[in-house]
Formats: sequence, C-alpha cells, structure tokens
Amino acid sequence: LSDLPDSQFDGKRVLVRVDFNVSVNNGAVGEDYRIRMSIPTIEYLTKRGAKVILASHLGRPEGRDRQYSLAPVAKRLSDIVGGKSRPAIRFADDCVGVEVEDEISKMNKGDVLLLENLRFHKEEELNDPEFSKRLASLADIYVNDAFSTSHRKHSSTYGAAWLFDIRLAGFNLSKEVEYLSMIRENPIKPFKIVVGGVKIKDKIGALEHLLPKADKVMIGGAAAYTFLKAEGIKTGNSLIDEERLPWVTKALSTYGDKIMLPTDHVCANSPNDNSVTMVRGDIPNGMSGFDIGNETIERYSAEVGGNGGGTIFWNGPMGMFEIRAFSNGTINIAKSMALAFWRGSKTLIGGGDTLEAMKKSGVAENEVSHVSTGGGATLRYLAGDEMPGVVILNGH
Ligand code: 3PG
Repeated sequence: LSDLPDSQFDGKRVLVRVDFNVSVNNGAVGEDYRIRMSIPTIEYLTKRGAKVILASHLGRPEGRDRQYSLAPVAKRLSDIVGGKSRPAIRFADDCVGVEVEDEISKMNKGDVLLLENLRFHKEEELNDPEFSKRLASLADIYVNDAFSTSHRKHSSTYGAAWLFDIRLAGFNLSKEVEYLSMIRENPIKPFKIVVGGVKIKDKIGALEHLLPKADKVMIGGAAAYTFLKAEGIKTGNSLIDEERLPWVTKALSTYGDKIMLPTDHVCANSPNDNSVTMVRGDIPNGMSGFDIGNETIERYSAEVGGNGGGTIFWNGPMGMFEIRAFSNGTINIAKSMALAFWRGSKTLIGGGDTLEAMKKSGVAENEVSHVSTGGGATLRYLAGDEMPGVVILNGH
C-alpha cells in the first residue's frame, strides 16, 4: 500500500479482499482475530480518502444461505472501528449487481462497505471470467489482505484481481509473507518446530520443506502416535494414520536425530472416560493417548523456552486440549512459547486451533512474534507452493 502515493487513493474505490471466514454461532462472531488483523489496511485507506469495499467469503455455502451471511461480521467490524466520529460499516446484501453498484455510487470518501459472502455465487470458486469482470467493475484499485485465502485461485483472489492495473498487498498479507518466508527460506538459528494436531496429511508438504532446515522437531498431538508406531512402540487404540506410516518411517530414518517424540502419555479408554492414567513407553491395549505426559512436557518445554534466540514455529495442539484432563501439554507449550518470546526468540504460531489453544492457556497475542491468520494457506506456503493470490500482486 505504501508503494502508492497517498493522493492516488483520494476518492478512489478500493476493493479489498479480506478473509472474514470466522466462526459465527447464533448470529454472533466468535474469535475475531482475522477481522482485527484487517484494520490497519482499512484505516490506512480510509484516512487517505479511499472508498473501501470489503469482499470476503464465509464458510462453504451451497448458494445463498443465510447462516453464512457476513452481516454479523459487519456488526463486529462496526463495533471495532466505528465510533461517534466515524461512520459505521455499511453492509450490502450481495457482492455484485445493480443494487451493490448503486450503494457504491453513494459512498463518500472514507466510507467502508462490506459486501455479502462471495461464495453465495458459485462462480467465485470457479474463477468465472464473467463474475470476475462484474466484481472488478466495482472498483479502481485492488488490494489483497487475505493471505489465508491466497492459496485459492478464485475470482476474488485471482481472476478479478488480474483486471486491475494496480494490485497491491495489504499490511496483513505483507506481514504474513515476511514472517513465513523467513521460516521457509532462512530461519534464524537454532530453528525449532513443534507439530501437533491430528492430520499428518496436511502437514507433510510443510514438514518436507522445513525438516532439512530445522534443528529440532517436537511431535505431539495425535500425529505423535503414528511416529511412535513407526518406531515399534505399542500405541494401544491411539489414532494412527496407516496411510502415512511409510512417509513417517522415512522421515524418521532421515531426520531421526532431530525428531523428538513423546516418552509418556495421558491415556484413557475414551476421551469421556473419567479415569485417566499416565503411561510411560508402550500404551496398553484398549487405551488411547490423548495428551503428552509430564516427562515429555518437561523435555519439550526446556527445548522451547530454552535460552532464547533463534526461531520457533508451533502448529497444532499437543492433545485433546478442549477436554481439561488432556489440556496440560498444550497449555505448557503455549507458556513456553511466551517465555521464548520474552527471552528474545522469534516465535510464530499457525493454524486456527493453535491460536485457540494459546488463548485458552492464558497467553496473549502480544506474547508471540507472529500469529498467522492462515490454516491451509500457511502450510501450503511453508511447503513452497505457489500462492495465486500473492503472485498476481504488483505492489506493496
Ligand atoms: C481458511 O479458513 O483456511 C480460509 O478462509 C480458506 O477457506 P476455504 O478452505 O474454505 O477455502
């Protein structure tokens, strides 16, 4: 944005692709991190006299479906940026069409209009040329501030963007690329990774790219049991990704010296079981591991909190943290991440689950160097994949 002289925004209609794909329950927005992260770009533009038109998707609706309306997001955004001296965010019932055009023609400098869910039109995901034209006709300048959707080649991230002469990166997108490219290309050493969560499949690309660069990789969450099984350790009824066992076995034989695995586990017969047991080594038949144990917490925390310096990337909870009995591992990793930050490490966390876990642990957003807004996009970027929504931009 700062590439363009301020005067170029004055009175111009600027289409900003944001990612307001947030959780909405009974008409109320839950975690609003993604919304808050878009504010610097919105305010930069309104202060320079632009007419700001915000476009986003929400969920994966099949056509127009009220439960996926962005109306609650408009309200939350108004609560955050609106004030006595500033107009509330206006909301358009659609994202293209005569009524939207009419609404835009009535905008004054500094006004903000949020368009209804782009995915109410199936053409958005099809990157349909006609739909792209209609979308692009709404504005003079294009800004992408939706890093977390930039792995999608959709109309709003790609087809429509191409139709603008000026295609800029918003501040949030630039910050994401700055931090994540540091990890991907040249992490400050020592570089440590903490990986948890359930799905190994989604993380293989990123791990393949990052394993050679990392000094230590700590595995937790359900993913750990597939690694333990590959090492010949008994995992009882714990969740195993049989399909990824060959990949895991190969990763262990190549990078075994830097991969750390849990040595003890919080086990139960089922997640709802009231009696939980700390198990060291083999997990007995009939039992499953749902969190890393105390000894593992100590080893991992010492590695993460350490002496400060270097880079630490954390993706995925260490256990079923939504259940109190299985939340200790995740809480302690979050606290160690905060400690590392205060001791001068660059700390990054990625994925919606991980942000939720961090907050539950009482760690504040400003105790982390960077919290990525991306889930799939962050992992794809770290895997070295091309991001259509980023490559089309021609300025910052
Ligand atoms: C996300 O939440 O990861 C982004 O908003 C992209 O959503 P999608 O996976 O439905 O395209």
